[in-house]
Amino acid sequence: MLLEAANLSKQYVSKEFFKENKFLALDNAGFSLKEGGYLSVIGSSGSGKTTLGRIIANLLDYDGGSVKYFGKDMKDYSPSELSQIVQMIFQNPYASLNPKLKIKSSLLEALDCKKTKNSEETIIKALEQVGLDGRILNNYPHQFSGGQRQRIAVARALLKNPKLIIADEPFASLDVYSQSRILDIFKNIKKVSNTSIILITHDISAASDFSERMIIMENGKIVKDCSSDEIFNEKENKYIANLISSMEL
Ligand SMILES: Nc1ncnc2c1ncn2[C@@H]1O[C@H](COP(=O)(O)OP(=O)(O)O)[C@@H](O)[C@H]1O
Ligand SMILES: [Mg+2]
Repeated sequence: MLLEAANLSKQYVSKEFFKENKFLALDNAGFSLKEGGYLSVIGSSGSGKTTLGRIIANLLDYDGGSVKYFGKDMKDYSPSELSQIVQMIFQNPYASLNPKLKIKSSLLEALDCKKTKNSEETIIKALEQVGLDGRILNNYPHQFSGGQRQRIAVARALLKNPKLIIADEPFASLDVYSQSRILDIFKNIKKVSNTSIILITHDISAASDFSERMIIMENGKIVKDCSSDEIFNEKENKYIANLISSMEL
């Protein structure tokens, strides 16, 4: 099994003058994913999707439960081992690209220890996978549109040759055209590589377009783990019916 997340819980504590506010963002959430598998995580805003994604990407600590990759607890891997297993792509592509670095340096940095004289070739190959070419290497992130930056962020994640990419609302800040380009790129990664993808989105139509399997989150819990077909038959579940009707707006 690529990933086994079990009974995950996460409480955020924020201080407001003398009052401490606690919020349970993840409540006993668990799911697993086999190697080469794909799924979408959907749920309304605030349901805990980003929290779940960040925890399994090793970007956020959790309070209870466990995350295992290939049967071994995440905590027993080194950070650099984990970065070769799991990569995350964010809603705002600026979050994955250093604005002060040329694209070439950003991408070389992603290759880190694997730097060889073939690095440039490797980088160009990754760019081609996202529909860009080597001519952009000497440019800076601000010279690109949001959609192009997101594609560069995907190329950067691919350079680690990870087993799993977690994409957190990767379309949310993009125009409709760029959204469909990114979705096509993910579908192509599915076809040509054995990198698994977890797509986090509140867009149930993008989710059903991307993957057969869906996980539905509500108030920090995974309330459903099923196929897209089953979701669309869940009309009597109010929460799911609302997610479906919001897509028809
Ligand atoms: N750093 C934080 N401190 C306090 N509360 C937070 C923090 N991050 C997220 N939350 C709260 O946790 C809940 C889940 O957030 P999140 O995982 O971002 O949900 P989603 O990605 O589904 O919108 C939300 O109610 C959010 O307000
Ligand atoms: Mg989120």
